Amino acid sequence: MIRFKCNGKAVQLEAEPEARVIDVLRDGLGLTGTKEGCGRGECGACTILLDGKPVNSCLLLAGKIADREITTIEGIASEDGALHPIQEAFLDKGAVQCGFCTPGMVLSTKALLDENETPELEEIEEALSGNLCRCTGYGKIVEAVREAGQRLMHESDQQGDA
Ligand code: FES
Ligand code: FES
Repeated sequence: MIRFKCNGKAVQLEAEPEARVIDVLRDGLGLTGTKEGCGRGECGACTILLDGKPVNSCLLLAGKIADREITTIEGIASEDGALHPIQEAFLDKGAVQCGFCTPGMVLSTKALLDENETPELEEIEEALSGNLCRCTGYGKIVEAVREAGQRLMHESDQQGDA
């Protein structure tokens, strides 16, 4: 039995400690937003956040997530289904084509912007260096990350004024 927190909720389920976390999420919890590309730590399609930091869930073993907190792409939209500002910015800036890399890109972006809403180009490139996209070229993705940072900053300003 493994206990952890997933998208804000306490979870406990039967899983071997050596099971891959991507399988636990997709097959055990039905969270199929996490995608499997290479299966060996090279493409970043399977990125999730572990205690707020991006990790490749294809390389992470279930035994390592006990009592820790995971965020998947399903956990970042609001409860009413409204997209997260990062997701909106990706759509608005044309940074999504086939969408296979997008959940991982969005989560790596979230980890970056949680630390710094106005990253420099090099910081964005560094943060996304583990996430490969075969479709869009990275220009639009970088633009989307910048736009998302602006929107998040605007949201926090508004909350500060309220
Ligand atoms: S599927 Fe995990 S890094 Fe490619
Ligand atoms: S949008 Fe297709 S791989 Fe990135």
